[in-house]
Amino acid sequence: MRQLLNDSERAQQTRFHFADDRLRYLVTRAMVRTVLSRYAAVAPSAWEFTTNAYGRPGLAAHHGIPALRFNISHTRGLIALAVSAGRALGVDVEHVAARAGASGIASHFFSSVEAAALASLPQEQRQERFFEYWTFKESYIKARGRGLSLPLDQFSFHFPDPQAVHISFDEGFDDADPQRWCFWQSRPAPGYLLALCAECNGGNAPTITVRKVLPLVNESLVDATWLRTSAAMQQQSRR
Ligand SMILES: CC(C)(COP(=O)(O)OP(=O)(O)OC[C@H]1O[C@@H](n2cnc3c(N)ncnc32)[C@H](O)[C@@H]1OP(=O)(O)O)[C@@H](O)C(=O)NCCC(=O)NCCS
Repeated sequence: MRQLLNDSERAQQTRFHFADDRLRYLVTRAMVRTVLSRYAAVAPSAWEFTTNAYGRPGLAAHHGIPALRFNISHTRGLIALAVSAGRALGVDVEHVAARAGASGIASHFFSSVEAAALASLPQEQRQERFFEYWTFKESYIKARGRGLSLPLDQFSFHFPDPQAVHISFDEGFDDADPQRWCFWQSRPAPGYLLALCAECNGGNAPTITVRKVLPLVNESLVDATWLRTSAAMQQQSRR
């Protein structure tokens, strides 16, 4: 995998203090490079990347290929990589079994609607619901590419039934069209929660292929079960 990295990535990899972080960085970079090469005639080691003003990695423009987009999330033991052709997208995965959701975080960072909905749940449901909000909120801000410069308390997620999710925006927030975005939620392995956000282009939700990948070693198709999806997805699956 190290041979796929460029000089600055190899240098960056050695700067991590902990072996786990060095390994995560190496596998992430190798995964991005090998998976992108599935979609274009570019060798894994030849991809060049840029970073936007908010830290989001993207492809350097000069590969002369259709607009491949990607987003990465990592948590202990798992890396999620989402790739699309031209659609903005964001992914977040959390190892929820290993973390405690904190009501202090909800009251400070979630919208008042979300914090109130969370507080109204029985205690035993709050931990799971906290991470549902957290991962969906992260997936959205990552799809926007602006990181924590977006006010987390000015958009809200709603769970009208056990399979559904939708987003709403406060007045004055710089995104006014909830229909622009589709959301999916899955449990990629026991104890993990993943949220994906992608541009829906007027209700035209993308089809998603899920693969389990160990770069340069093996990969297999996964029959993903979505725990929640947005309304546009549910309408499409009923058609
Ligand atoms: C940086 C941030 C985009 C994600 O951070 P995170 O959840 O700690 O980490 P994740 O593993 O999910 O994502 C990290 C990846 O996001 C990508 N990323 C970095 N900045 C990004 C941005 N502005 N937009 C989209 N993706 C970004 C990078 O690819 C990064 O991985 P890499 O460094 O290996 O390339 C940002 O949202 C953040 O700092 N969040 C902190 C957590 C928080 O307070 N969340 C509030 C939820 S309610």
